[in-house]
Formats: sequence, structure tokens, C-alpha cells
Amino acid sequence: MCGIFGYIGKQKTAPTIVLDGLKALEYRGYDSWGVAVVPVQQSGKQTIVVKKKAGKIGNATVTELPSGTLAFGHTRWATHGGVTDINAHPHLDCTGTIAVIHNGIVENYETLKAGLIKKGHRFVSETDSEVIAHLVEEYLKRFTVSARDAAPAFSKAVQAAFNDLDGLNAIILINTQADEMVAARNGSPLVVGFGNGENFLASDPAALLPHTKQVHYLEDNEMAVVSRGGIHIFDAKTGRRIRPRKQQLTWTAKEAEKGTFPYFMLKEIFDQPGMLSEIAAESTQQAMLLAHELNTAPRIYIVGSGTSGYAARSASYLFATVAQKLTNWSSPTEMHHHIDLLPPGSIIVALSQSGETMDLMEVVKRAKNNGTKVMSLVNVVGSSLWRMADLTLPIGAGPEKGVASTKAFTAVVAQLILMAHAMKNDVKTGQRLVASAAKAAKEALKPERIDQLKRIAHELKAVEHIFVIGKGLSYSTALESALKIKEISYIHAEGVAAGELKHGPLALVTKGVPCIVYAANDMHYQSTLANAMEMKARGGYIIGVSHKPDEVFDEYIPVSDVGEATIIPNVIVAQLLAYYLTIERGFDPDMPRNLAKSVTVK
Ligand code: M6R
Repeated sequence: MCGIFGYIGKQKTAPTIVLDGLKALEYRGYDSWGVAVVPVQQSGKQTIVVKKKAGKIGNATVTELPSGTLAFGHTRWATHGGVTDINAHPHLDCTGTIAVIHNGIVENYETLKAGLIKKGHRFVSETDSEVIAHLVEEYLKRFTVSARDAAPAFSKAVQAAFNDLDGLNAIILINTQADEMVAARNGSPLVVGFGNGENFLASDPAALLPHTKQVHYLEDNEMAVVSRGGIHIFDAKTGRRIRPRKQQLTWTAKEAEKGTFPYFMLKEIFDQPGMLSEIAAESTQQAMLLAHELNTAPRIYIVGSGTSGYAARSASYLFATVAQKLTNWSSPTEMHHHIDLLPPGSIIVALSQSGETMDLMEVVKRAKNNGTKVMSLVNVVGSSLWRMADLTLPIGAGPEKGVASTKAFTAVVAQLILMAHAMKNDVKTGQRLVASAAKAAKEALKPERIDQLKRIAHELKAVEHIFVIGKGLSYSTALESALKIKEISYIHAEGVAAGELKHGPLALVTKGVPCIVYAANDMHYQSTLANAMEMKARGGYIIGVSHKPDEVFDEYIPVSDVGEATIIPNVIVAQLLAYYLTIERGFDPDMPRNLAKSVTVK
């Protein structure tokens, strides 16, 4: 969940290059940050210089750090040890000549730490990560024979230390003797970037875009030795050299910038009409191929977490209603009882923006071990879930940085609509619907709609609860809308299947409680209005999102009817409401408390 950025090159401003890389990565973890630099060689004994702080990176600078051509840094999302300056990364060994940054959890750190303390090592932080610096220090004593073999000894020491760690970890180390960064990964993502006379390491390829588009994604148990002159990849278990599998990043640096928008989330909400038009115009060849695979599979399970999970739920309705194909969906953490029971030939469809969500990767690995085919629809091409899959489709949302997922949801839903129609051998209808959704999204973002949602947000900013109801596809919309509202505005919002209200949730609807009602023009329209009436009769304040007004609505938000693609403009309404509620309440929509963009730990 942490952000990692490392630089080695000719430029003496390495600390600033790293800080800028971290700023681009802050969405991955933002409770503290730190940068370490090997200062340009001075006379006498040299140590690594670190600046690290609890809190968001914001407008931090590192101008007080010495110049250097080798530096790395980290944004933290705390697991072991509170959010303090000392617990922030990088961590140093006893000599101050070795530094580590780490993403993951060292499960056996207590045993390792006890052993190191017995050997005389002094620990200053409460983290599991600090153990790694001391472990490398210990191994380095064994491996260094002369100054000439400092570099090979250092990479050997990192390799040995990495192999001592239990759990899923990505580590990078530097030291003052070897002019290189040594990285290793198991589980947590790491990508190396190839420059010209300079090279990079990052936890997320988007941070590399201003520098290079040529990358190699480290696989589990791979190590990288990154120096100014080149990047060497090894098997961390055997030491065997591996040829880099270079890939070209397709995004541009500009796409990953906020531009004139105050927050990434708002920019990403406004990206949607253009993005949807592009998806509608895409070649449908791959969708056709995947549709054939789905049609012939005896069972399909669609899996995703959070917002991607609600997209998976939508797919189960779309595939059933459009293609008459029975499809299960699940969140990966609830999949364990079912996964081993899938019949031969089944397909697991993994949905993920980041392509790095640990819970999902575990399910996919287990499915693969059972011989189940894996189809990944991910936004980050080249990510772990992309590389693990037998069949792939990029969802085409472009870089998404706001922790609250917006355009990745509508992009994947658009792809699923295309796929559902391709399964029926009628991809043209799918394209027409997605093109209409693009227009409806534009309508949903026009100034008068924005003003209306700003006003509603102002009126609702102090409420404690919001209910959101819908049926069928609109139930997925309700769940996703409630997630958006709660995760950034911190108002308790609950998505309820409209038909389930009187089985419990209705007890909580009292005078003035806001209830958002998705009444789409489908088979559930009338019954949803009847459910809205039940809420109104208990005093609920009904906010109707629909293609036409109705007397039950106290507030009416119009959206265009675009068939099953109406889920797209409907969700945009909730994205905007969540955003403006958050602004009204004085919070940062891009970086909600306790969350991070990419959940790479269990
Ligand atoms: O990268 P993924 O799509 O796999 O991420 C899944 C969830 O962690 C993610 O959708 C999360 O729920 C978002 N914060 C929702 O806005």
C-alpha cells in the first residue's frame, strides 16, 4: 500500500527527483513520508542522510538534504508501529550506511529482531521494516572481503536477508559503498524503469511516466540490481540471471496530472464522457474473443473488491439479462468456500483497477492452481493480475489517482456491457449503448446539474445517515453510490436492495432521513417507486434519480435513459454528490482517512 520511488543517475538533485516521484505516488499511502540520499562523496566516513516525517507529503521540500546521485523514498501506510517520524521510512542500520524502504509485512520480524538484538543491534523504531536494514548489515559483515567486492557483497547480503523474510514484501536497499539500489519482491508490486544513464524503481508505473516508458515488472522472488549503467535482474532464490522483459507504458505523463482541477477525483469524474466515447469506438475484436470463451465456459465467477466488486455484481445482472448466461460474482475475501468447487473449464473473471489487489491475487493464484482459466479486466496494463491471466482486456480508463474509484468503475461497466452484447453476438448494440452513456455522462456533468448537486450537498452536509436504494442493476448502483459517499465524506451511507427495505432497514428511516432512489426505466421501475413511497411514509426525504419526475420525489435529479447503460450516468450523480459532500465537510476527497489506492497487503 506504500509508495516507493528510487533514482540513480547523473543528476545531483536525486533527493528532489525522488520527492517529486513520491508526490506522484502519495495516493498509495499518505500517513508519513521520507527520503534518503547517499551524499556526493566527501572526505572521511560517509553516512546516508535521511529526512522523514509523519503526515502528508503536501508541499514538503528536501532542499536541506545534501546533493546526491543516488536516493530513494517512501510514502507510508502504517501496518506495524504508529504514525510517527521515527516509524516513517527509510530505516537505517546501526552504522547509518545502509537504508531500507519496504512495502508489505515481515511476518517473522519478532524472531528476526530478537536474534539481531542478541547480536548487539540497536533498534530505534517500532516497525517490522527496520529489521531488514540490520539483517543486511549482519550479512554484509560475512560477505565483504575487500572494498573491491562491496557491490556484489551488498546484493548478496540483500538476497540473503530477503530470503529470511516471511510474508509478502517488496524491499529496496542502498548503502554508501555500493553505487546501486538492490530491490526484491514477493507479492508487493515493484517496477524498474530504464533511463539513459539513469535508472529508476517504483511501486507504480505511473510515477515513472515523466522519466521513462520502458519498464520491467519484477515477478515474485525476482531481484533487481539497479545502477547508473544498467539494470540486472536475478532469481532471488537461486541467483540465476534473468533477461529483463521490457514493456512500453502506454499512458502519458499529462494524463496522470490534475491539470486545473482542484482534486484528482473531480478531474477523473470529468474524464468520463471522453473515455466512454473512446471505449465505444474501440475495436471489439478482443471483446468478441473473450465473449466466445465466456459462452463456452460451464461456469463463470466474476470477482473484485470494493468498487470493482460492485462492477462484478453488475456483470452478473448484465450477463443474465443480455446474454442469458448465469454468472456468479463474489468479493475475493468471500470466495474461499467456492473456489475449489468450480467445474473444469470454468472461468474466473478478475476485475481490478490497479491489478495489484492482494485479496484478488490470492484467489486468482488458487484458481490457476486448480486449472481454472483466468480472464483479467484491469486498468493498469502490465500489472500483476494482467500478467497472471490467461485472457486479458484493458479497461481503458487511463491513470486513476483519486483513492475513490470513479472512472475505472464506469470504464469497466462499459466493457462489461460490450462483452454482454458480444456474448449475444450483437456487439453493435453494446457500442450504441456505451456511446449513449457517454452522452448521458456529459449531461450529468453540465453546469446546472453540478449546481443542483452542490446545493443538495450543502443541505445534507450535517446528516448522519443516507440510504440508497435500487433493484437489479440499480442495486449495484446503490451499493457503489453508498461506498463513494461513506469512504470520502465519512457520512454513514447504506446501499439497500429496494425490495429488502421492509425486511429490516426501514426501521431506521425516520423524519428527514435522506433516501436516494434509483428508479431506472426497467422492469423494476414501478416497484422501486412503491418502495420509495414506503420510505416517504416514514418521513424519509426522497431524492429520486430517474429519467422522469414522480410525485414521490422531494428532490428530482434527471438522468437520461440509456437502457442497461443507465448505471453509468446514475453512478456519476453519486460520484458528484460524494465529492461535494466531502468538500462541504472540509475533507480531502483524494486521500480519505485510513485508506490507500492500492491494497497490496492482506
Ligand atoms: O484496484 P482495485 O480495483 O482492485 O481496487 C479494489 C478496491 O480496493 C477499490 O475499488 C476501493 O474499494 C476503492 N477505494 C473504492 O472507491
